[in-house]
Amino acid sequence: MPTRWSDLDGHRDRRVRPILIGMTVRYDEVLEPLRKAYDARATWRDGLTKEPWKLAERQAFRERLAPGARLLEIGAGTRQDSAYFQDESFVVVAIDLSATMVEHCLAKGIEAHVMDFLHLNFPFASFDAVFAMNCLLHVPNHDLPAVLAAIRAVLRPGGLFFVGVYGANESAEGPIDDDEYVPPRFFSWRTDQELLGFAADARFDVVDFHIADLGRGHRLQSLTLHRPDNE
Ligand SMILES: C[S@@+](CC[C@H](N)C(=O)[O-])C[C@H]1O[C@@H](n2cnc3c(N)ncnc32)[C@H](O)[C@@H]1O
Repeated sequence: MPTRWSDLDGHRDRRVRPILIGMTVRYDEVLEPLRKAYDARATWRDGLTKEPWKLAERQAFRERLAPGARLLEIGAGTRQDSAYFQDESFVVVAIDLSATMVEHCLAKGIEAHVMDFLHLNFPFASFDAVFAMNCLLHVPNHDLPAVLAAIRAVLRPGGLFFVGVYGANESAEGPIDDDEYVPPRFFSWRTDQELLGFAADARFDVVDFHIADLGRGHRLQSLTLHRPDNE
């Protein structure tokens, strides 16, 4: 079994082992532990400095957007990327499962709501773009098709969808056994082919797929998707 970071934002290099679970994990089971874990670490996360590769990924997505585009950031955390897109004159709405994360967004002047990926309470096709950095890795594979359908529903035909997730050469699901977050967070590690397969099944076109090398054998799967114009 490969080893991974315990801190997935790269601020530590402590390696731990993910636990493989022999049964199917479901979205509803992981939601509450994730909410507690991220509520407790929101203030700490707000103080983190973004790594250069994260800045490069969001800038590349920004350059694909038309002026004034309406962008939804899901799993927004404490607002850094939302604030960047807002400063770039896009119309930004942020959502996160964690009420504490959302408070940080609101305090920085971002329109933000406590919502989860399966309950995006927005009109059909109401966004030109969706940005999802390091959050869809918290969705079990069993429920990822439903989550992608929910995202697709709020994205207008012709709209763009960025997905950034830490990838793996073999798939695994479960909490990390040495996570410093309490309770330990659920992760789904997907191969490149798996991730691309989910995107195709959800009827997105691939605009770009590349791997960002994060060093020490770690990699980000960067995927920019397009909702076809005629659907
Ligand atoms: C690793 S953090 C990433 C935060 C931010 N996107 C960033 O790059 O710094 C994952 C975020 O996703 C949120 N999250 C996890 N599962 C979620 C779900 N099902 N619905 C909404 N937000 C979720 C967490 O609360 C957390 O803020």
